[in-house]
Amino acid sequence: MTSNDLTIATAHLTVQADQAKPISPDLFGIFFEDINYAADGGLYADLIQNRSFEYTAVDNFDWNFFTAWELVTEKGKCSIALGTEAPIHRNNPRYLIVNIDSGEVGLRNFGYDGIAIKAGESYDLTLFARVLSGNVGGLKVQLESHTGEVLAEATLTTPGGEWTKLTTTLQPSATDSHARFVLYASGAGALAVDMISLFPQATFRSRPNGLRADLAQVIADLKPRFIRFPGGCLAHGDGLDNMYRWKDTIGPIETRHSQPNIWNYHQSVGLGYFEYFQYCEDIGAKPVPVVPAGTCCPNSGMKFTGRLEENQQGLPMDEMGEYVQEVLDLIEWANGPATSTWGAKRAEAGHPEPFGLEYLAIGNEDQISPLFVERFKMIYDAVKAKHSEIILIGTTGPRPEGEDYEKGWQLAHEMHMDMVDEHGYRPPEWYWDNLYRFDSYDRNASKVYLGEYAAHDLGRANTLRSALAEAAYMTSLERNGDIVLLSSYAPLLGKHKRMQWQPNMIYFTNTSIRLSTNYYAQQLFGANTGDVYLPVTLDVEGMDEVAAASCVRDSATGDVILKLVSRADAPLPVTIDLASVGAVAGEAACTVLTGEALAENNHWRPQTVLPQSATLAVGAVFTYEMPAHSLSVIRLKTTV
Ligand code: AHR
Repeated sequence: MTSNDLTIATAHLTVQADQAKPISPDLFGIFFEDINYAADGGLYADLIQNRSFEYTAVDNFDWNFFTAWELVTEKGKCSIALGTEAPIHRNNPRYLIVNIDSGEVGLRNFGYDGIAIKAGESYDLTLFARVLSGNVGGLKVQLESHTGEVLAEATLTTPGGEWTKLTTTLQPSATDSHARFVLYASGAGALAVDMISLFPQATFRSRPNGLRADLAQVIADLKPRFIRFPGGCLAHGDGLDNMYRWKDTIGPIETRHSQPNIWNYHQSVGLGYFEYFQYCEDIGAKPVPVVPAGTCCPNSGMKFTGRLEENQQGLPMDEMGEYVQEVLDLIEWANGPATSTWGAKRAEAGHPEPFGLEYLAIGNEDQISPLFVERFKMIYDAVKAKHSEIILIGTTGPRPEGEDYEKGWQLAHEMHMDMVDEHGYRPPEWYWDNLYRFDSYDRNASKVYLGEYAAHDLGRANTLRSALAEAAYMTSLERNGDIVLLSSYAPLLGKHKRMQWQPNMIYFTNTSIRLSTNYYAQQLFGANTGDVYLPVTLDVEGMDEVAAASCVRDSATGDVILKLVSRADAPLPVTIDLASVGAVAGEAACTVLTGEALAENNHWRPQTVLPQSATLAVGAVFTYEMPAHSLSVIRLKTTV
């Protein structure tokens, strides 16, 4: 029988509070990866693209050092060249040389599909410059509208022959979603420039080098208990030279080592480890960094060949000792005292207190080959020996079954690993068919992190049907919250017209944000977590596959929270028996996400499916009508 056959049915749900069990308080978190311009051009608030002239054809076949820039030569003559001698820092090897022949010339930046600015807000400009030869002067910066009207202007002091950091603040007189930035200079001589950066002062929590406030806020609104970062495929990278090395991503931004992004663009690493940890702290989420297991992404090289082929490589064994130390140093950087070598670098960045790292993931979707196992064990054993307090997370490949899954789990069993990361992107039906997947997992074996999952519907659309499949699955994660300790939907962010992957949870342009049905399902779970699971039995007149339910208690508030998911095409009345829970207050808060099964919050109709809240009369036993295609969250106050 399918959900379409269901017209009139009734359901009975009984909560068995006497069989309560503790579950992970960290169950629902998020996974952030710089895919789909999630970081540069997205969450990372810098408005200048290619700020340090490091773009090359390795990032993207069509790119070069001057991508996103153009010359302004109406009032002067000049040529440009790429400079590499005596850069600001060895990690930032390239800069731009402007050879000015005469008059006033400019460098115009278009940002990421335009620079979105707001009238009256303040934007901090920083750049590095030095005069290489001749007489150069007249340095000034402007924000101009998309039609060329000057909206803000400031003059800068002309530097000498050494790299000098120049700063100013610009306040545009008008709002423009497609503004441009221009740096002007005049005279006759050579000027070197680098790290041209423009930040709104109104970043999330007003952090310098901070995050785009509106995006950071909608992510915070998910109330994630943790953030997994920086990837995904990006973490282990496109070949060994492209592995994400955390040490390259801390310190002053002009000293960081930006590099190609496996997703066919560039990663400035301005959003680096310090910013990730700080954001976690700002929103009350635990950091879950992913370090490569000394191996690169098995899909390495794909962006050039277009072919998915196994291309796993491992660091040479004589480099592994140093690499293992790099991982140990990360723990010292995060948790060590400010007097320790790496703790001092955290303190220097403005955070003397330890960050309190609890989890560390080693590897992502790696092929579980001898090459991987040898390197993984070196890292795992060294970290365990020195930091038994850190919960280490292994990997079981890209799919929820198959060779890497089997081998990954076998390795987990052999090594008595703390936890392993499972991934799976499957059609909605798969999630309904697998609601009992984790119920049969060995309670005494390694714990599970469901690190990446999403229901992929037809056309990879963010349908309500996909969100409900995920919600049903999340009820099963709560039921298995004694062994599934963490979970995260993937990917998190997708920039309109700049995506390499769909579906995503949150879509955005430079000025707007669109929240998918999947976002609201995740948010309802994130905002209604519990630390105790109260088992439920759900009987839908022999058609259990059309509905799913879970019940948790939040010890902090004493609230009991029911989650009910129905994919039936008609309303489904359910008799809810809470007698075992104790005295229940007469009213509960009820939030419902419902609509047509194929409804989406798409670009044209971004608010088709929104959660609606109401008050519900409840008692020890009461009847609730689950709307067709719905997720309902009923939050009850108990009086015992
Ligand atoms: O979430 C997108 C990608 O999917 C991740 O980078 C990778 O781990 C997985 O294959």
